[in-house]
Amino acid sequence: MIRRCRQEYPVRLMCRCLNVSASGYYAWQDRQPSSRSLDNDRLLERIRSIHEDSQGVIGAPRMHEDLSAEGETVSLNRIARLMASNGAADETVVSLNSDAMLNPAAYIPPQCYTQTRDDSGAFAGKSSNPCFACHNMGKEPNYTNDADLQLTYAMPAFAQKNNWSNLFIDRRPEIAGIADEKILNYVRQDNYHETDGQVVLQRVLNAPLPAGWDANGDGKWNGYIPDAYFNFDGIGFDHAPDGSYTGWRAFAYAPFLGTFWPTNGSTDDVLIRLAPAFREKIDGTFDLTTYTVNLAIVQAMIQRQNVPIAAVDERIFGVDLNKDGQIDTATQITYDWAPTEGRNMQYVGLAGEQLAQGQVHIAAGLYPEGTEFIHTVRYLDPVGGEVGIGMSARMKEVRYAAKRGWNNFAQLKSYADGEVLEDMRFPDRLRRFVGNIETGLQNGTGWTYSAFIEDKQGDLRPQSKEELYACMGCHSALGVS
Ligand code: HEC
Ligand code: HEC
Repeated sequence: MIRRCRQEYPVRLMCRCLNVSASGYYAWQDRQPSSRSLDNDRLLERIRSIHEDSQGVIGAPRMHEDLSAEGETVSLNRIARLMASNGAADETVVSLNSDAMLNPAAYIPPQCYTQTRDDSGAFAGKSSNPCFACHNMGKEPNYTNDADLQLTYAMPAFAQKNNWSNLFIDRRPEIAGIADEKILNYVRQDNYHETDGQVVLQRVLNAPLPAGWDANGDGKWNGYIPDAYFNFDGIGFDHAPDGSYTGWRAFAYAPFLGTFWPTNGSTDDVLIRLAPAFREKIDGTFDLTTYTVNLAIVQAMIQRQNVPIAAVDERIFGVDLNKDGQIDTATQITYDWAPTEGRNMQYVGLAGEQLAQGQVHIAAGLYPEGTEFIHTVRYLDPVGGEVGIGMSARMKEVRYAAKRGWNNFAQLKSYADGEVLEDMRFPDRLRRFVGNIETGLQNGTGWTYSAFIEDKQGDLRPQSKEELYACMGCHSALGVS
């Protein structure tokens, strides 16, 4: 059916229609443009005026959206052609803070354009499916099911060509021109810490802010200022130079296939930090046992399974952690959550109080409000020995996520349904994300994402809005997320 109709309708729409209601399909059919009725001169006049209003920093896709909002029915290609032939083509220089984007579909990652059929070599004629790693059936409470995207290149019009042109530059001659020694020295320089162990970005972001980094023009950085020192004790807790706990904790995880494997040229790590109340006793003082137990409870909720812990006296918390019916000593957090049958889980310490008062929430598969993650992306350091390939001292990127709001299962379901509906009704409309480079972009289900990346000199700087757009697809609308 899809093949038969391909000439007439976008494939992605057809795919979605096959398992979604027909009414959306007809609604879409009704709004087919009668583009012939438009005349170029009038259109060009509107394009020129919008272009001037935007000080020349508006690209064809954005122009297309603006014109569509005015009720014009005209294709993106036609606008791009008109703009190019009239000196209003996309600008190529974009400030960190600008809304203009060279690739407004940056949330669709380069992995989607991977070749699936080999042309030569031992696997000639064979096809492979690299798509399943991301496009798959979601597990509740992720209600996204995009497994159909394993079988289709049905992209929004703008993304039908691969916009990741910088990935196709052959850099082998440049690489051959640099001595290995020089590369090793470079990746082994620490661009994150000051010589006294403090964090460079703390100094840089607390100083008067460069205009291009200042999203709201108040002279200050209003976003996350990195406060992890990567100075871990034997059980993974991070310490500031004065010895205090920062709240950050490293944990083991299996790197996601294809993306953060050393074979892809990067190493990475992930640190978690729960909100202050999860680290505190009821009286509001920091307590490592309380924090360790809360981390184990969150782990049990995410993994939906029991989590072993070092023996702890349940009387401290007044909570039956191992659910053996007695307040005694526990060596595991027992996972048993079925709230409709009256079987609940709870946090301990101040977070336990907050849960009882409805200030924070608990549910299978979900992190509580205030959870933060840091995730650094680094070069490979061939340290040899037991370790083999290690993480370089130099950071390519420091990525950050914080959960600012709670969505229950019903809200998450309606988010996923909303995405499907939007796709169906406006198959060529690109996604937009709210937020800025300081406070981060919002993913629609409570999380914000922001980040820092190496600049030309090798120093870390905030990522531009467009760069942050690149975070948002993987971190919002995938079955696998
Ligand atoms: C590393 C994860 C990853 C892999 C691997 C991957 N994709 Fe994607 N894909 C994404 C993300 C993220 C998006 C953007 C989703 C969004 O925000 O709607 C996307 C979007 C798409 C879209 C557009 C969907 C839409 O509704 O706009 C298509 C089509 C697609 N991918 C096809 C593929 C195909 C075919 C493959 C395999 C060759 C593939 N992808 C591999 C992550 C991936
Ligand atoms: C190609 C898909 C993809 C893109 C693009 C991406 N991420 Fe991720 N991110 C992942 C995966 C997969 C993980 C899990 C860690 C791993 O497998 O190594 C992850 C982990 C994280 C984590 C740690 C917490 C967690 O969810 O596991 C943070 C924080 C994070 N990413 C932020 C960002 C930011 C900020 C950006 C943009 C600069 C970004 N990510 C871009 C796929 C992506």
